[in-house]
Amino acid sequence: MKSSILVVLFLALVISCGLLVKIFITDKIRRPVINTSALSSRSAPPFPGAKEDNIFWFAQVSDLHFSIFYDPARVSQLKEFCSTHIDAIKPKLVLVTGDLTDAKHKDLQGSGQFQEEWTLYNDVLKETGVLKKTTWLDIRGNHDAFDVPSLTNQKNFYRTYSAQGKKHFHSYQHVEVLPFGKYIFNAVDACPNPGPRRPFNFFGMLTQDSLDTLEEFAQASEKSNATIWFGHYPTSLIGMPGPGLRHVMRNGIAYLCGHLHTLAGLVPKMHTLQKEGYLELELGDWKDNRMYRVVAMDHDLMSFTDVHFDTWPIILVTNPKDALYTLPDREPTGRMLKSTHIRLLVFSPGKILSVEVSIDTVQVGFAKQAKGPLYVLAWNPTDYSKGVHTIKVIAKDSLGNSTTVEQSFSLDHTVLDFGLMARLVLMLDLNTVGQTLYTVAMLTALLPLLYFRIMKERKTVNCLHLRRFFDVVNEILRRIYYVSVYNNTFYPLVIYIVYITIGPWFIGHVLDGHVGLCFLFGIYVNGTLIPSNLTYVYGFFQILMFVIPLILYTGWCIQHHLRNLKKDKAMDKPTCKNYIKDHWSFLLIVFLQVWFAYGGFFKAYGTMAFLLGPFRTWSAVLAIYLHRNALNVERQELEMKPEPSEQQCKHG
Ligand SMILES: *[C@@H]1O[C@H](CO)[C@@H](O)[C@H](O)[C@H]1NC(C)=O
Ligand SMILES: *[C@@H]1O[C@H](CO)[C@@H](O)[C@H](O)[C@H]1NC(C)=O
Repeated sequence: MKSSILVVLFLALVISCGLLVKIFITDKIRRPVINTSALSSRSAPPFPGAKEDNIFWFAQVSDLHFSIFYDPARVSQLKEFCSTHIDAIKPKLVLVTGDLTDAKHKDLQGSGQFQEEWTLYNDVLKETGVLKKTTWLDIRGNHDAFDVPSLTNQKNFYRTYSAQGKKHFHSYQHVEVLPFGKYIFNAVDACPNPGPRRPFNFFGMLTQDSLDTLEEFAQASEKSNATIWFGHYPTSLIGMPGPGLRHVMRNGIAYLCGHLHTLAGLVPKMHTLQKEGYLELELGDWKDNRMYRVVAMDHDLMSFTDVHFDTWPIILVTNPKDALYTLPDREPTGRMLKSTHIRLLVFSPGKILSVEVSIDTVQVGFAKQAKGPLYVLAWNPTDYSKGVHTIKVIAKDSLGNSTTVEQSFSLDHTVLDFGLMARLVLMLDLNTVGQTLYTVAMLTALLPLLYFRIMKERKTVNCLHLRRFFDVVNEILRRIYYVSVYNNTFYPLVIYIVYITIGPWFIGHVLDGHVGLCFLFGIYVNGTLIPSNLTYVYGFFQILMFVIPLILYTGWCIQHHLRNLKKDKAMDKPTCKNYIKDHWSFLLIVFLQVWFAYGGFFKAYGTMAFLLGPFRTWSAVLAIYLHRNALNVERQELEMKPEPSEQQCKHG
């Protein structure tokens, strides 16, 4: 009987989780359906052929993190990039998508702008003469906004030391007019303003005003051949009023960003197609991985490749383009089927010796140089008009390097799916995910306490609520029961949970010279509330790693203590060894809070944030207070609130 109820409950749980996942996740991260009836107009000339025409290319680099403390090679190798690489690739433009400087102290916890880091960046631009070779479009990232009180403040070094900051100190538009078309690049600066110190400066934010400016850019971009958006944060990490940035970029072809460093290599291809129909392409960092990207527009078909510094030759197949990134509703994809040549770009500082092309494992020939890096090979696309095919290119240069590239293509608009992790990270609204996680965790901690309390007030507590499920569940319920029946443990815990949800977590120098208040929902400083969505994630872990363990520990402590009293056992003289054996979990809970308070808040926001910090520092005090209360539960109280006996329960 009991087990069948459990099975039914379990199934109900699984089904409702499945429904939740379906409603909240799969629909959101599914590839949008493309209206193929509108595609016939997508095959008007010009068609890709043997001539070097209708093509240009540009590069992207992200998250440089120039630091005065760490890894000077970030700077010296960028210099090399600006000379050897730029000379070999000759990109029309270079997009630099934020975190130009690291702005972290040596301890990696404190943060603030260092003028020296900005001069390092400026020196690279000046010394290499890269600004004369190409158009350098740089934009700020969150690190460039650590401890920047306002855009006009002198600490906003982006204005003085970057390539674009003198003209634009926020989002801007760059128009590239070429003989064969007009291409628009819109830079999105979503850094919070004022910019607090780290860590609560991880999510971007856009105000309605900034979105209105971007909407103007979008409208001014409508008559172009293609619009490319770029910025630091993936759209999933930007807080803003609806319908938001993705809606603004709805007519774009791609949004190129950085910030997540491919999650330390966990999601090496953090690329997806958003519901609005544009590609969102995160690029790995320069900081540790020395990644950069080469993007080509060939006959208005966009292709790109993400490569490592100093890896040659670079191969970028532009016709037929990679099936995964094909956008039939906004690219003239029909041109591929009418093309006369396979086209690809091959870059190397050396001389290219051979470019061998195979399709579906059959060698189809060697591509010949058309002009510059463009290589072409005649083909008959109708041989491949159905389904998905694979093209493989092997290029060798005179420096002894060889690169192989293999990718799929489709001339009938067969769509492929992006990786699940990439879709989750880029397509969900991570603000909402954080808020949901926090709310669920908070209620999980709070509701059982309230439930047992109400049951006790109504004097209806009996073994019903403690009926044996599994031993573990029973033990957990029993502990929560103990915590909730004693005022000295119930009230402090409930007040704490409510407090961290609504009250300030700490008061401290979130900006140099400005004392601010940090709440769950954001940071209040100099008259502005900056939504800081990372706080929800911190709150979630605080419940998981502090509140819930503390409830379970306190419950155990009361139970343990009462049993000792009941047995009338003269308490063993507590030795240090026994104490540690019994209370190691308590010591761990307190230690972690002090450690986080010191390592996180003291170093990041100063002494005041450490002392006036209910969220962390005072939490350790709360844990000690509860520990003391639990060990002071008196015998009378024990008689007033008898432990439901196991006997009763068995017959209950
Ligand atoms: C504080 O805010 C005001 C008005 O928003 C601004 O003028 C001032 O520059 C800010 N303070 C600092 C130090 O930036
Ligand atoms: C760019 O757009 C113009 C106007 O629509 C068109 O005539 C031209 O062919 C396009 N360029 C390319 C390379 O397709």
